[in-house]
Amino acid sequence: MVRSFLSIAMSAVSNCSLYSKDHASVEELGRKAFSILNTLLEESERLELMIVGEDLIVNKSPLKDIGIQGKNLLKRLRKKGITRVDILRGVSYAEMKQWIAGIASVHEEIKGSAHIKVGTVDVRIGGLRVDGEFVADMAVPPGLPSVQVEKVKDLYQGVSPFKKLNMTGLEDIVVNFILTFKREVNILKLISPVKSYSEYTYTHATNVTVLSLFQAESLGFKDDLLRDIGIAALLHDVGKLFMSKELLEKKVALDEWERSEIRLHPVYGAKFLAKMDGVPRLATIVAMEHHLRYDGTGYPVYAMGKKQHLCSQIVAIADFFDALRSQRPYRKALEVKEVLALIKKDAGSAFNPFLVDNFLRSMQAALSE
Ligand SMILES: [Fe+2]
Ligand SMILES: [Fe+2]
Repeated sequence: MVRSFLSIAMSAVSNCSLYSKDHASVEELGRKAFSILNTLLEESERLELMIVGEDLIVNKSPLKDIGIQGKNLLKRLRKKGITRVDILRGVSYAEMKQWIAGIASVHEEIKGSAHIKVGTVDVRIGGLRVDGEFVADMAVPPGLPSVQVEKVKDLYQGVSPFKKLNMTGLEDIVVNFILTFKREVNILKLISPVKSYSEYTYTHATNVTVLSLFQAESLGFKDDLLRDIGIAALLHDVGKLFMSKELLEKKVALDEWERSEIRLHPVYGAKFLAKMDGVPRLATIVAMEHHLRYDGTGYPVYAMGKKQHLCSQIVAIADFFDALRSQRPYRKALEVKEVLALIKKDAGSAFNPFLVDNFLRSMQAALSE
């Protein structure tokens, strides 16, 4: 059904660029596509098209065999810098026709409307509004030298499915973190407070890296493996950069659809990293598995039951710790000891009990320095 909508809509696009948007054939194909679209929107509230790498993801699952018309759509959208289109229930024929004409035109940009949302690749850092009400938790120590957090920010801003990842930059960041460790024994002094909402993604990435390296070092990881787990931790949530910022910025509880959408970030991240040259395989594994749990539950669902990689288990603890230690718009930050108690409680279910032990012990040692 989606395929036939796309194929007829694309025929309308071709005729539109060949003749004009008012040509009879465009009208006829447009009407046909519109009727299929309405049937689709009876089943689900929206039709969500997203381009990730070479794939077209429709309502969260990759659409296989999209044919020449589908590929043509991808190419045209991408040329205009669009990687996401949401068509909402209630869309009018005029809106759809305007969208078709936008895709067909070489010079015009594709304009969104009330029921058709178009977006550029959502590299959400930088373009975000800094929320005035959201202030730093002043009790948190100063964190890593801000120049290091800035580097992570630059790196995140450069992430795009169309660009190679800056691997040298990534390694530099990780090596720098490791060196900082050697100078500062109190791990909590290295964790940066989130100063504003827009900073959350890269501050979180920085903190998760610090906390993962801290665990890995205490376990005796060295050299390449230490570096790779640092890179993996830095990129664990990279899939979130391909999600809509409205969703990630929401300040109220998410509905079912939105929750399932967010839960796709491990898959988006892993797919993105798997295609990048020079990215350690460990980074792809960790991106995919960091929301799995030790007991085999968690998400993504299809990876459930698989044994979670030790490095993913390390990052999962770091991720949980930082997420609860950070103030978010919908809840306050927890105290360190409260978070540690929660981690302890979930040893054996969410987390590897051996790693929990090690984390608590190393944390205690660092805190008593
Ligand atoms: Fe995550
Ligand atoms: Fe995370």
